[in-house]
Amino acid sequence: MAIRTIIEPFRIKSVERIRSTTREERQKLIEAAGYNLFLVESDAILIDLLTDSGTSAMSTEQWAAMMRGDESYAGSPSFTRFRDSVQSIFGFRHVIPTHQGRAAERILFGVMCKKGNIVPNNTHFDTTRANCEFVGAVAMDLPILEAKEPSRIHPFKGNMDTARLAEVIAREGAANIPLVMLTVTNNSGGGQPVSMANIRAVKEICKPHGIPLYIDACRFAENSYFIKLREPGYEKKTPRDIAQEMFSHADGCTMSAKKDGLANIGGFLCTNDDKLAQQEKDVLILTEGFPTYGGLAGRDLEAIAVGLNEALEEDYLNYRIASTAFLGNRIAKEGVPIVQPPGGHAIYLDARAFLSHIPPAQFPGVALAVELYLEGGIRSVEIGTLMFGEHAKMDLVRLAIPRRVYTQSHIEYVVEVILDVWRRRQNIRGYDLISQAPFLRHFTAQLRPKGNGAE
Ligand code: F0G
Repeated sequence: MAIRTIIEPFRIKSVERIRSTTREERQKLIEAAGYNLFLVESDAILIDLLTDSGTSAMSTEQWAAMMRGDESYAGSPSFTRFRDSVQSIFGFRHVIPTHQGRAAERILFGVMCKKGNIVPNNTHFDTTRANCEFVGAVAMDLPILEAKEPSRIHPFKGNMDTARLAEVIAREGAANIPLVMLTVTNNSGGGQPVSMANIRAVKEICKPHGIPLYIDACRFAENSYFIKLREPGYEKKTPRDIAQEMFSHADGCTMSAKKDGLANIGGFLCTNDDKLAQQEKDVLILTEGFPTYGGLAGRDLEAIAVGLNEALEEDYLNYRIASTAFLGNRIAKEGVPIVQPPGGHAIYLDARAFLSHIPPAQFPGVALAVELYLEGGIRSVEIGTLMFGEHAKMDLVRLAIPRRVYTQSHIEYVVEVILDVWRRRQNIRGYDLISQAPFLRHFTAQLRPKGNGAE
């Protein structure tokens, strides 16, 4: 019989100790942090699922490449290796390194957008939205309707609603839409993939109007693998072939190499437009650095050059997607409400359904995230009423899985903790907000459990 167990396609050469704490210790720490997990020090976290960004484990090949890092200010061969690696996958004419994804976004919107412009996307990530709005443009989300229902299963729930895109272009006029974006995978929509057919359809709509299509490419390798698994005609293609095809439909991209670049820092901006590239490089020099390093060390460029290729290896992607799905499917089987189907980089718990006795105004996502920490030292992130205020359409708790960091038994431990909390969910209380910053309040907000001297 064929062996079916999917294993981590690596062995461990260097280990990092994680520290267990007692429930009493965690109770004290979370109270001192105002029940805000951003304010708990990471050495008091056992399993850190706050983000998959910049938290990957690097390979021996990446560490070896880092030693080759050439730290010359201009014309470093590390840049040449970085650019060649990016171009071999992404195919764009100009590759502009940046210190991370949001720096690429800031430069892109700063150069392409002006006040009152509209930038449609399947769903803008927070930093993309903020950078777009910072230049006075409107960040417009056009996900397909299925994306709005957490329990609804759809193979490409990250797709853009193309009918609405066409409507928006007709209504607003192409001159007012400097670019259209597609985020692969759609992080804010649950880590859901975008199909090749959708990418193609979006491009077809944009093309006659001369509107360029940009891809927010953070998780391009995971998206490519979902296309291989789910889209007819792609079964036999390699993730690299699929990635190349995805980008062949686009005019440029922004990338955070902290995700599918398997690096701890870095990003880039690509375009096929010579004139734009020149303007972008001029802005780059102002704040990031010379165009052959863009705010990164030569060794960072080397780590990314290798990481992009490793992220496309099929055995890695098979393990990655299977590991995330294992977590989602195991808890869903026991009735835990999650955003379905499991995404590529994260599982999103539907806290509003999980803690249906806690109204959104009492932060069910915070209550659930705090409980996962108290129960098992797990750090997750609330994506709901605390993050977005009353505009939040859902109260989710994201469990983002760092790449190549945790083993199957870590994931099994996470399953056990979630199920334990699920069984005693009725006893979990909501929270009151005690203090908050005027913007991006979730990073620093202080809270207090209801019925704890609050009433
Ligand atoms: N676009 C998407 C889809 C992202 O998920 C992120 C970052 C960015 C852009 C910005 O990249 O952090 O390198 O500046 N997402 C992280 C997360 C922070 O936790 O999901 P960055």
